[in-house]
Amino acid sequence: MPNVVVIGAQWGDEGKGRIVDLISEKVDIIVRYQGGNNAGHTIVIGDEKVVLHHLPSGILREDKLSVIGNGVVVDPKVLLQEIRELESAGYSANENNLKISDRAHVIMPYHREIDMARESMNGKGKIGTTGRGIGPVYEDKAARRGIKFADLIDPDSLSARLKDVLEERNSYLTKVLGGNPLNFEEIFQEYVQYGRELKGFSCDVSTLLNKSISNGQNILFEGAQGALLDIDFGTYPYVTSSSSGSGGASIGTGVSPTKIDTVLGISKAYTTRVGEGPFPTEISGELGEELRQAGGEFGATTGRPRRCGWFDAFALKYAAQINGISWLAVTKLDVLSGFEKINVCIGYLYKGQQLTSFPSNNQVLKDIEPIYLEMEGWKEDISEAKELSELPIQARKYLEKLEETTGVPIYTVSLGPSREKIIFLNEIFS
Ligand code: GDP
Ligand code: IMO
Ligand code: MG
Repeated sequence: MPNVVVIGAQWGDEGKGRIVDLISEKVDIIVRYQGGNNAGHTIVIGDEKVVLHHLPSGILREDKLSVIGNGVVVDPKVLLQEIRELESAGYSANENNLKISDRAHVIMPYHREIDMARESMNGKGKIGTTGRGIGPVYEDKAARRGIKFADLIDPDSLSARLKDVLEERNSYLTKVLGGNPLNFEEIFQEYVQYGRELKGFSCDVSTLLNKSISNGQNILFEGAQGALLDIDFGTYPYVTSSSSGSGGASIGTGVSPTKIDTVLGISKAYTTRVGEGPFPTEISGELGEELRQAGGEFGATTGRPRRCGWFDAFALKYAAQINGISWLAVTKLDVLSGFEKINVCIGYLYKGQQLTSFPSNNQVLKDIEPIYLEMEGWKEDISEAKELSELPIQARKYLEKLEETTGVPIYTVSLGPSREKIIFLNEIFS
């Protein structure tokens, strides 16, 4: 059985949680490898909705092992709350079915403060972050002043690390950002308690995963965010601060690329983006609003309205190239029912010239003109379809066009948020 990486193929919120929840049935272990609680992965089972920020989307299946890898940044306060909420919803995240890498970095209160103070100071030039401290915690990791999960669960290490970094962070927070300093003792007392509560989850994740692979188990690597929010390949600086592409799966878990077999990219049948930054196929005005309402496009983490636009095959091709996407899961096709015409962007024009590759310069991306292929829409409600042949011919042609213009075959098509509203076109777990 293959080890599969699941990534967002656009700007996040493609339905990764929905797809991972479903296919986690076919694997033994589900591991998150980057990002933190900036993620909001929604799972709908019957009438019930669960939004996960930290926990892998396999956690609802108790017989599976869920793992948080070293590449993830963990906010212990949020994580403990998420575990409690899950329990009150009738599920369980305990020391048997959840492991957390002792090398994962910890989101501290000053990370959140810095994130929010910076965004309000930057005004118009802001990134539109989720305000969860993600940029600042990854900055500290790279600057070698981070606090790891191994430190959190050891009071002496926590005290020593916090002493080392807090003075410098407070100085930045107060002198540069005009914020208030944070108190060592208050943070220490609060976080040492979180460490006590979470100690039993601590794990050497690389050893665990590699041993499991040797024993014939298979792993699903669950990405957060999306290819175009990747720190290296996304629309920088309007990106998140981690490697959200498939390459992040190795770095963020300690499993080598040679052990990964396939990459499944999740994409909406259209495109959305939350926060600032270029978005070539964005639809403004009434039509954009119509799509937002039809798709319920409001952020699962911050509740912000998502910007909506047409499917961008040119950007997806770029995402496929960088990440080796071998299969696509197309979600929310049902949302397009009722749109008379549906556009697919097949290329970018810049100053009258057709671009041959996805631009690295945001100014260029902001000024490009999308080249659209106009497709006929369909009126029917398709959410109950069980087979491809039950879809209207226009919907089938649309899917064929997505495959043709992206060069990636479709593994599955989702027609609703809940588990049963899906059609599988291919098999990748054999
Ligand atoms: P993620 O961050 O990639 O896991 O995606 P989010 O959970 O942030 O956003 C996806 C939203 O679309 C959620 O509200 C899902 O319940 C919903 N969703 C997923 N797939 C489908 C689908 O095929 N049709 C419809 N109508 N909604 C879907
Ligand atoms: P999931 O996993 C959509 C966006 C933010 C902002 C930028 C940087 O649910 O798909 P950050 O807080 O990470 O520093 O914000 O990235 N962003 C997301 N957009 N889905 C997400 O996660 C996102 N996580 C971050 O809106 O534009
Ligand atoms: Mg989301």
